Amino acid sequence: MALRGVLRLGEVAIRVLDMAEARQHYGDRMGLHEVMEDAKGQVYYKAWDEHDHHSIVLRQTDRAGMDYFAFKVFDDATLDSLEKRIKAFGLAVEHIDAGVYPKSGRRIQCVLPSGHTMQLYAHKEQIGNSLGYRNPGTTPDEGVIRGFRINRLDHALLGGINIDENAKFFTEVLDFNMSEKLIDHDSGATLVVFLSCSIKPHDIAFVLQPEANKFHHVSFLLESAHDVIKAADMIGKYRIPVDVGPNRHGITRGATIYYYDPSGNRNEVFAEGYIYYPDTPTIVWDTSELGNAVFAQDNVVRASFLEVLT
Ligand SMILES: [Fe+2]
Repeated sequence: MALRGVLRLGEVAIRVLDMAEARQHYGDRMGLHEVMEDAKGQVYYKAWDEHDHHSIVLRQTDRAGMDYFAFKVFDDATLDSLEKRIKAFGLAVEHIDAGVYPKSGRRIQCVLPSGHTMQLYAHKEQIGNSLGYRNPGTTPDEGVIRGFRINRLDHALLGGINIDENAKFFTEVLDFNMSEKLIDHDSGATLVVFLSCSIKPHDIAFVLQPEANKFHHVSFLLESAHDVIKAADMIGKYRIPVDVGPNRHGITRGATIYYYDPSGNRNEVFAEGYIYYPDTPTIVWDTSELGNAVFAQDNVVRASFLEVLT
């Protein structure tokens, strides 16, 4: 498989209530690297093994949640071609000039049927992962991998309306594939869609909610399930509020722990899961096995996991 088109979730912009607390959480404790603070006081982070300048943007305001998410696409021609297809699908496209977002080339932006603001961009300044590109070795200097030992931004789960329409948009316009979905056992209604543009089991997912434009969680990739347990040790040490302790998803088969940032935004650290290829039929779960689908080590559905969104 030659990975072209949409490459990956490249940026998530999270609203926080108190930047000092957020900095302690995302930087000091989780171990993301702060790379910049802009003139508006927004703070930018990268995980160690990402090459682009940043993947997380924090903005202090009076309401938690997510401002927007952005996917990086392969090149400018991809951006132009996707713009045409987005317009043909019926969504309005807004142009954002290069440099409006720091270290970033031009972007296009649209509002999805679920109410979320999505951006696409082809260029962002690359600062590397500290190892270099010639004879890089395998191991960065002491302190580069730290905190929860996060390798990279992995995916996000967003809550909103019209998620079937979102799935149609991602599969027909952006060439994603639906790896898995969760449906209501009785009505057959779609409750969650898992969408992949890569060999990951999901790059983005949408859960049906009565309200548009909600944020369920942002997820960070760790090396192994063992590292999820080590992150859980740190989460306990620092008294970080936990939503769901270490477990394994039936959906994606990833090892997971969910916790909250000081503003109440849910975070996840995630590892493993299967390799996805786009010729794999969509896996369907229904609510008769909701516990197993979501938390397969104890098969218990947590009310907070379904109900708390920012
Ligand atoms: Fe997740």
